[in-house]
Amino acid sequence: MIRYFATCAPGLEPVLADELRADTIGAADVEPGSSGVAFTGDRDTGYRANLWLRTAIRVLAELDRAPVDGPEALYDWARGLPWERWMTVDQTLSVDARVWDSAITHSRYAAFRIKDAICDRFRDRCGDRPDVDVADAHLPLFLYVYENRATLYRDLSGQTLHKRGYRSAMHKSSLNECVAAGIVLMSGFDGTQDFADPMCGSGTIPIEAALIAQRRAPGLFRKTPFPFERWPDFDRRAWGEIRAAAKAEARPLGCRIAANERHPGAASLARRDVAAAGLGDVVTIAQGDAETWEPPFVPQWVVTNPPWGERLSDASEASWRTLGGFLKARCGGAQAWLLSGNAELTQFLRMKATRRIPIRIGKFDCRLIRYDVRARAPGEAPPPRAADRDPWHRHR
Ligand SMILES: C[S@@+](CC[C@H](N)C(=O)[O-])C[C@H]1O[C@@H](n2cnc3c(N)ncnc32)[C@H](O)[C@@H]1O
Repeated sequence: MIRYFATCAPGLEPVLADELRADTIGAADVEPGSSGVAFTGDRDTGYRANLWLRTAIRVLAELDRAPVDGPEALYDWARGLPWERWMTVDQTLSVDARVWDSAITHSRYAAFRIKDAICDRFRDRCGDRPDVDVADAHLPLFLYVYENRATLYRDLSGQTLHKRGYRSAMHKSSLNECVAAGIVLMSGFDGTQDFADPMCGSGTIPIEAALIAQRRAPGLFRKTPFPFERWPDFDRRAWGEIRAAAKAEARPLGCRIAANERHPGAASLARRDVAAAGLGDVVTIAQGDAETWEPPFVPQWVVTNPPWGERLSDASEASWRTLGGFLKARCGGAQAWLLSGNAELTQFLRMKATRRIPIRIGKFDCRLIRYDVRARAPGEAPPPRAADRDPWHRHR
């Protein structure tokens, strides 16, 4: 039984825990913590977690834990561990460390002592020592020390899991893929509701929504190998079977997904990434102002990340006003989930929120806010939007 820890953005722990409990991963003892979720399982559970998790940044597998009352105790403990089971001397390693409220006070020094212990052990046993590679180590390690209790992990993910492999370039305000998937999952979207994002930027939200709806494993896109594929105890056959099973899980889209973006460059980026994700036939990206966008169906589910001032300073108010108009005119009866990092802006929607979920994105305290759009009575005309009232509006 291996003890694991999957890390995530603060606020995403409950959805990450749900992902871990799902049949596709089947983790046990799932316990949401702070910025991550602990779980247990066998080696294959770790492989499945890396392939399937949409909201995690990385997956760590515990190697050992021990009380350490100072740098020398840390060194002695690490030197006594069977490193030759976890790497060969011609492979590279890296050590990242976080130290809190302990006799050891410097994270970097703690990482150095671990690295020295491993190198000294190899030198004693085979006359040579492994090299360090901070960028792409065969064995990336993570040390966590809290109140003089140390836990050492090996990092199964290496390059963070948000780098799915379908993205060609970052839009200046692109949402991290893990956060995009997290807010779609938190909204309760289950892949059956017709889905829209009227301000989609580079398309991260509709792409992640489509991958969820199609039950496609995000790790299948990854272009670089996972670190564990180079470890001495790697089970190639099990990994092949897990990947084949993941491919077999994919199913056709059971809903419609449409998105829109005003900025031509972002819209073409979104179209490129939609195509790279193999979604060109099922996700449509329109280019224009949401004010005039007519989705090809009445959306039942809206998830969007409008500009919120901190990152895009111009005209955020106008965007939120437009969004309110769009929801009322085109999305009667829909559930709308909006991500905002600025509490001031939501007033411009002129709608009443029914739920607010805190989520931290980088240094921003954000909220995922739910609005229930009033359904129109049969025959009731949609409320006029600025574009309908003023024919010149379209030409501004
Ligand atoms: C925060 S970004 C969205 C980022 C997106 N979630 C992604 O991952 O790339 C907000 C986007 O809303 C777009 N936008 C703002 N007002 C708009 C409007 N009235 N109509 C359409 N798009 C609009 C901006 O051009 C910007 O790309």
